Amino acid sequence: MSGHGNPIPMTSRKAGPLTGEAHVPGDKSISHRSLLLGAMAVGETRITGLLEGEDVLATAAAMRAFGAEVERTGEGAWSVHGVGVGGFAEPEDVIDCGNAGTGVRLIMGCMATSPITATFTGDASLRSRPMGRVTDPIALFGAQSHGRTGGRLPMTVVGAKAPVPVRYRTPMASAQVKSAVLLAGLNAPGETVVIEAEATRDHTERMLAGFGAELTVEDSDEGRVITLVGQPELGPQTIAVPRDPSSAAFPVCAALIVPGSDVLVPNIGLNPTRAGLFTTLREMGADLTYENEREEGGEPVADLRARFSPDMRGVRVPEERAASMIDEYPVLSVVAAFATGKTEMVGVKELRVKESDRIDAMARGLEAGGVTVEEGEDFMVVHGMGPDGVPGGATAAARLDHRIAMSFLVMGLAAQAPMSVDDGAPIATSFPIFEPLMSGLGAEITRTGA
Ligand code: S3P
Repeated sequence: MSGHGNPIPMTSRKAGPLTGEAHVPGDKSISHRSLLLGAMAVGETRITGLLEGEDVLATAAAMRAFGAEVERTGEGAWSVHGVGVGGFAEPEDVIDCGNAGTGVRLIMGCMATSPITATFTGDASLRSRPMGRVTDPIALFGAQSHGRTGGRLPMTVVGAKAPVPVRYRTPMASAQVKSAVLLAGLNAPGETVVIEAEATRDHTERMLAGFGAELTVEDSDEGRVITLVGQPELGPQTIAVPRDPSSAAFPVCAALIVPGSDVLVPNIGLNPTRAGLFTTLREMGADLTYENEREEGGEPVADLRARFSPDMRGVRVPEERAASMIDEYPVLSVVAAFATGKTEMVGVKELRVKESDRIDAMARGLEAGGVTVEEGEDFMVVHGMGPDGVPGGATAAARLDHRIAMSFLVMGLAAQAPMSVDDGAPIATSFPIFEPLMSGLGAEITRTGA
């Protein structure tokens, strides 16, 4: 799991309009959490619509290594027999989380308050990412961690033998950090409190409540205050994972920039902590509508309809929206190239510590494709060239980052000359059906090279 084998170079080029329905896979964030909480409940949790991408499969394997029974029962259908809060066994081998930052950080939280030791690793991308943001707060519970310089993987975490609850203010807007602390708090006695200055995706809170944990969320002057009562008995659940808005972003954005397109992307979760991209696109003048709006499993859901939008204008994306679209800036920067005027993305320094440095990866690839980009530690500005003004004709480095690879393949569908990525293999981490799904809409995306 710690590598992607041979690189898969890929190329996309202008083709006819994109039309039809795009059934994107299950939500990655919710899929990870379903397996983790299922593993910490007592009894059998049944999951449908699970994302069967490499990241989530690594989490499934990890839950087995910690003692849960995890079984695939059909397409996207999984059964998890949990071991209960505090019931994790010590893994016999290294836990390899592949490319998954969410996987490793949340799992560290889950085991940090159990008297066991685990060693974690991942692929070259994950081994370069900072883990201090999780090891700092779990140390407050009493866990110890020993990693490489700079808090990098491989890393061994020694869980607390006598955990104490904590009160923790997250130093950056990060759902992974918030979630790791809450999951660690599950096996600490008393109340664990997490305070976040800005709201980040709230799937952990919703799911903890769904599994029967006692949890309250209050808005205060300090921000969102989440209080969890430790050592609950979690009851098994039946979970239908909604489709991933972060994956929906790719066919939606492609439809907006490819002339004549009209694409329906059904059943997309529009949790406000995730839907910032769609708000931004509509502000830019995108022909993007929500059809059949409804509630499912406590989450707002709609069918997204995206049509070719030749009149999009650049906007300044408000900083406070960043957390709700943090994974969507790469593909937004592509759409911005096909709009007129500048699109300013500010307050986005977290992009520098994702699967790749996403500001640098996008800036270099866009520039290679003829687009002018300004960037700084915390911002990126794309100068739009209009709906038919983007030259393309370059190869971008994907840097082991699925969203970078997919973004440049979307760009190639509307640029004057094809766009290539050096390695599309990481797409399988979150969107294993990307190629057939996009081809089904009429896109021309091919595997190139030997
Ligand atoms: C995620 C949180 C975000 C996001 C990631 C998934 C999660 O990361 O980028 O793809 O499921 O909690 P941060 O918490 O680091 O912002």
